[in-house]
Amino acid sequence: MRPLNYGRHLVEDDDIDLVVSVLRGDLITQGPMAEQFETALAKKVGAKYAVVVSSGTAALHVSCLAAGLKDGELGITSSMTFVASANAMRYCGAKVALTDIAKDTLSMCPTSLSKAIQRHPEASVVIPVHFAGLAAESEKIRKISGDRIIIEDGAHALGASYDNGRPVGCGDFADMTIFSFHPVKPITTGEGGAVVTNDQELARLLRLYRSHGIEREVERYENADDALEGGQRLPWYYEQHHLGFNYRMTDIQAALGLSQLKKLNRFISLRRDIAKRYDQALTGLDNLSIPQQSTSYRDRSGHHLYIVQFDLERLGKTRLEIINILRERNVGCQVHYIPVYHQPYYADHLEGDRTDFPVTEAYYRGCLSLPLFPAMTDKEVERVIDAVRSIVQ
Ligand SMILES: Cc1ncc(COP(=O)(O)O)c(C=O)c1O
Repeated sequence: MRPLNYGRHLVEDDDIDLVVSVLRGDLITQGPMAEQFETALAKKVGAKYAVVVSSGTAALHVSCLAAGLKDGELGITSSMTFVASANAMRYCGAKVALTDIAKDTLSMCPTSLSKAIQRHPEASVVIPVHFAGLAAESEKIRKISGDRIIIEDGAHALGASYDNGRPVGCGDFADMTIFSFHPVKPITTGEGGAVVTNDQELARLLRLYRSHGIEREVERYENADDALEGGQRLPWYYEQHHLGFNYRMTDIQAALGLSQLKKLNRFISLRRDIAKRYDQALTGLDNLSIPQQSTSYRDRSGHHLYIVQFDLERLGKTRLEIINILRERNVGCQVHYIPVYHQPYYADHLEGDRTDFPVTEAYYRGCLSLPLFPAMTDKEVERVIDAVRSIVQ
């Protein structure tokens, strides 16, 4: 009986073959495979440009830089997310304000966003998070945000759709969307991430910040004369125009990503089938509720996480006791996430207190993510169902 984690990659022989072909070739840093992956990814989500980077966190960081977020400015994100969504703004020296979440989507609450913008009209960037693979109320968020730059954190949501039926990342409601290719995510490159956008200038800046801020387009050189000798272009010459980073994705990773991307539809449909089986088996049980369960959500979510919520008081158990009972049955699970404002670091960088986030607090108290990944067998799904039932029945 293999122990189940809440998430796990599925890497198959053809994925490995493509990676090996890169390893046997001449270029293993960023090269043609990364370009192919970018082209395929942009096409898949219906965006004009994709820029692949070394992680989802790097994708958030270069997006904030391309958005022009600066020291002393302010950006807004959701209270319920991995810390990276907020950290990216801090990397730029910006202040962070948080919104509460909506009870049914678990993503940024539009009303809470309106209030945050009233408090902070100077906010220049908004980062909604498509939590657990379900797109946030993106049209409302776009309207409320006005002409502020929206960077969607789609780390969970490659392959998901908005409620207009179009793919997350197509740019209908955001200036940029980031994805993560960490192994528990919809597809993997080991570590890796990407930003998609329809804006040519943003795409150019994203590429610059990905690689040290180094400019290689002759027409953009500030000291163009230094680039030439006797009319000939000096092959070694380049100019650094910004303070950028080394966030490049290698061709080894890109090969894995390109191969995995072809399987995205299959992976999502396997995830959706498992989510539906959980829904059938766990709906209506005492002391257990299932957020994000509405049929319209299930049909368009990327199903990164399957989250249940225990009524711990009525059950008379702590969450740790529940986790231990599940673990005895080789069922691993995880808490997504500790609210950002609980983190000691953010205590010094945020205004307000826990009472400002009643929905997040209520959700966090009893949430648990059950195992959900494409390679789960029927028996493993049954094992999870039996274990959960044994706790609440
Ligand atoms: C919502 C969210 N944003 C950003 C990230 C950061 O992605 P990465 O781990 O690829 O840096 C994660 C990763 O877990 C995430 O869950």
